[in-house]
This record gives sequence, structure tokens and C-alpha cells, in this order.
Amino acid sequence: MATRPRSLLLLPALVFLGLAGVAAQATRSEGQAGGEPGILTPPPPPTPRINGPSVYGVRPGRPFLYRIPATGDRPMRFRAEGLPAGLALDEATGIVRGTITDLTPRSHELTLIASNARGRASRPFRIVVGDALALTPPMGWNDWYTFYEQPSDELMRKAADIMISSGMADHGYQYVNIDDAWMGKPGSNDPALTGPARDERGMINANRRFPDMKGMTDYIHSLGLKAGLYTSPGPLTCADFHASHEHEAQDVARFVEWGFDFLKYDWCSYEKVAPKGSAPDPERLQKPYRLMGALLKEQPRDIVFNLCQYGMGDVWTWGASVGGHSWRTTGDLGLEKGQRLPGFYSIGFRNAEHSAFAGPGHWNDPDYILIGYVGNAHDINEAPKPTTLTPNEQYSYMSMWALMAAPLFYSGDITRLDPFTLNVLNNAEVIAVDQDSLGIQARIVRKTDDEFVLAKPLEDGSLAVGLFNLSEETRTIAVRMAELGVGPRRVRDLWRWKDVGVFADEYSASVGRHGVMLVRMEAGPRGGQRFRM
Ligand code: GAL
Repeated sequence: MATRPRSLLLLPALVFLGLAGVAAQATRSEGQAGGEPGILTPPPPPTPRINGPSVYGVRPGRPFLYRIPATGDRPMRFRAEGLPAGLALDEATGIVRGTITDLTPRSHELTLIASNARGRASRPFRIVVGDALALTPPMGWNDWYTFYEQPSDELMRKAADIMISSGMADHGYQYVNIDDAWMGKPGSNDPALTGPARDERGMINANRRFPDMKGMTDYIHSLGLKAGLYTSPGPLTCADFHASHEHEAQDVARFVEWGFDFLKYDWCSYEKVAPKGSAPDPERLQKPYRLMGALLKEQPRDIVFNLCQYGMGDVWTWGASVGGHSWRTTGDLGLEKGQRLPGFYSIGFRNAEHSAFAGPGHWNDPDYILIGYVGNAHDINEAPKPTTLTPNEQYSYMSMWALMAAPLFYSGDITRLDPFTLNVLNNAEVIAVDQDSLGIQARIVRKTDDEFVLAKPLEDGSLAVGLFNLSEETRTIAVRMAELGVGPRRVRDLWRWKDVGVFADEYSASVGRHGVMLVRMEAGPRGGQRFRM
């Protein structure tokens, strides 16, 4: 993007209960006291718990790959009832692969079952054969904010291994994505980056840090994970590596040959190809994405398409129509200047405005989760450092992203995950809010200088609600049920995994400086609904 700084160019059991009798008993909850919290969430129980989405889209005849995310003691045995013909499940790993033989666009209803020495869990799962992909927001890891211009085959394989060993994959993280800098760089003195941009057929070459792209994606796929990469519609990427301009079809063919499952397509030097005023907006802005979107759809494998153009031309209003599954709504989060509040808040506030445009298969993307050890986007040569975000801020970040049904890509240093960072990233109940199959992005209930309240309806009739304290002091934040448009609700604290009571008229919590209370308000018996916990 032309205006960017140069550095960037570069319960187990089901409990059924009536609410009426208890509704009056509690009107206020006990929230967190002041100060900064540590690890709030108990470790996942040893019994099996199946996580991740309950719905998954695939195009007819394309290869299917899904590793059932599940926590609990290993060894675990997996089963799937209703598996469509053409798919096979590895009972020991929970990886489902194959190609569904029935090409008819339709839903296949499955039951996934996981069992171990401690118990058994089962969950419905729907595979939708049709044109839609990313029916829930994509989740994974992207190397940019830690490794910048240094990604390598070795790093990506290691990231995939860690996605499994850290439990991230058991919570639904799936994509291992290379960002910029996997290609050659014109004019570079680094021997790893020199050499012809393309081979004799015009197919793009990876740089020497990626000696065997197909071998690498095969490895990632062998773990049941998926692989992504990045390019630009302009002649160069944002970090000045070779990109796809006038080679779009060849590059897509190459990505398919290599076995990639995700493409981030970053505007950058396309600004020179189509400068402002060269054609009316938004047609000028849409053209390269429409071209790529159409090419991707024709391929014999499913590739999720992420538009990266920083929100220009209100991309949320047309991103889906050009084939995008997600679109960045703002500039780079790592470059966002925080003032009183860290940068993720202003990015989050802007992204939250566009809730009407998100839905299954098309998501607003407010950029990556930057916690743990993170590099400095203003100086990409600086070594990654521990985040300066407070624990409260990190809980707020993840809560806001989950409520906004944002793609969840961690982009801190996956090779240096500490227990606190993992606790923030790997909370099954928080992730379930993000991955809910209704695919509704939270609406803004309130936004003042001191408070931000988001509410997201969930498939089972529950409502996820985030009470964000933007002020400098611990503060009690209240929300009336009428404001939320619901009656009495049983409330569960999703970071602490605690049921906090049943609330009739109002729910309130004491929330620390820059912190959040993230709750699920469970649907009650009104309207014939029963509620589950
Ligand atoms: C930016 C993009 C970042 C990263 C970077 C790579 O334009 O917003 O997410 O991909 O380019 O150079």
C-alpha cells in the first residue's frame, strides 16, 4: 500500500433446568477483582472433548482433509458415523481423508466419536458439499510477525509439528501459512534469494529456503494440517519479492501442483499497475481479486482465499462477490499505533463496525493474534520480544476476535510458546464462540470511552457477550437483558469455565483495567428451548 511505512514494504452431562424458579436469585455476579490475572482456565479434562467447528465445506470432487480436533488423554480412538463414501478415518489420529464420491451438492450428517481410557465424547458434524469453503473462520499460524523475510521449509515443518505438540491443533488450529518472502527477491545479495524468478515454463520458483514445496506440504498434510502461502497481484510483494502480475493462472497452477490450501493475496505493488484514478473505484480495486478468485474456484483442490488490501473501497461490501473467504478490514495490526490503548483495540473497534458483512464462508479479518514472543513490524530485523500487552489485554484481544468471528491466526513465535500464551490461544470454550456454525459476527451493544460491549448469537440459542473495560481502573460493567434482547439467562464465564448464576434483568461484572468478562448466556426454556451446559 502506497502510504505504508517503508519497513512494511518490505459438563459434562446434559442438565435440563427451568429458569423461572432461580431467575430472581441473582442479579449481580462476582467478577475478577482488580490487578492482572494469571492463567484463568483449568487444563483440559483428561476425558475426550471434541473441539473445532461442527460444519465444514468442500467443493465437489476436491480432496478432503480434516483432523478431528480433540483434547483428552492419549491414546484416543476416533470413529465417525455417517462418513460419506470416499472418505476414510484413521482411528488412531482422527484424520479424515479422501474424496467424497457423490458429487451432488448436499449435506452429509455425521457423528464424530472420540474415546479414551477415561471416557467417550460424541458430536454432530456436517460436511457440506457445495461451493462454499471456510464455513467457520479459518484458524492457524502465519509466520509474518515473527520471521518476516526469513521463512523456510524447516521453519514451516517445525511449526506444523508444534501445532500438534502444543495442543493448538486439538483446539482447531489447522493452517500453517507462509507469508511473504518464499520467492526470489530481485536485486538481493542474499544467495538464498537470487536466481531466476520463474522456470522455463514461466512457473514461479521458490527461493532456496524452500527446496521442496511439495515435500513440505505433503509433510504438513501427513499431520492432518493444511498449508498456505502468500503472493501479490502486483509485480512485487510488499517486501519486494517476485509476485504474480500477469502470471496469475500459472501461479495458481503452481500452488495447486505444490499442494497449497490457502492463499493470502496482498495488494501492495498493484498500486503501481492500477494507480488511484486509473479506473473508477471499486472496479479498480476489485479487478485483481476477481481474476484470482475465479482462477481459484476452477482448481481441482480447495484453496481458501484471503484478500489483503487493508479495507480499501469498503472491501467488506464486495469481498465475497469476488470469491474471497476473508478480507483484511484494516492496515497492519503490528504497525497500528496505540495511544492510551494498544493498537489491537482500534483495529478491533473498526472491524466490529462491519458485522453485517460476515457470515459462513466470508469473514472480516482484523489481522493476526500477536501475543507471546513477537517481532517488531517497524524494524523487522529486531529479535522477537515478549509482548508488552498485559494479561488483561491479551484476554481482551482473544475475546474480541472470537466474538467478531475473526479468522484466528497466531503470528507470534510458535517455537517459543509459554503456558500463559497457550492458555490464551487454546481455550476450547472461547474458540467455540469464534467457530460457532451460525457464523454471526457480534454486534456492538455499547461503545463509550470506558466500555465496549459485544454480543454474538450462537447456534444453540446462547448469546456470547463480552464486557470490555477500556478504562484505567477496575470497573463494574453492567448489561441489561433487555439491551441484549433476551430474557433471564444462565451465565457461564468462558475464561474461568465457571457457571456464575442465573440473571433475570441485568448481568454485571467487575472487570480489571483493559480487561474483559467473556460469558455465554445460555438459552433457557422460554420459547420452547431447553438449555444445555
Ligand atoms: C503487508 C500485509 C502483512 C504482511 C506483509 C508482507 O501488506 O498487510 O500482513 O503480509 O505485507 O510483506
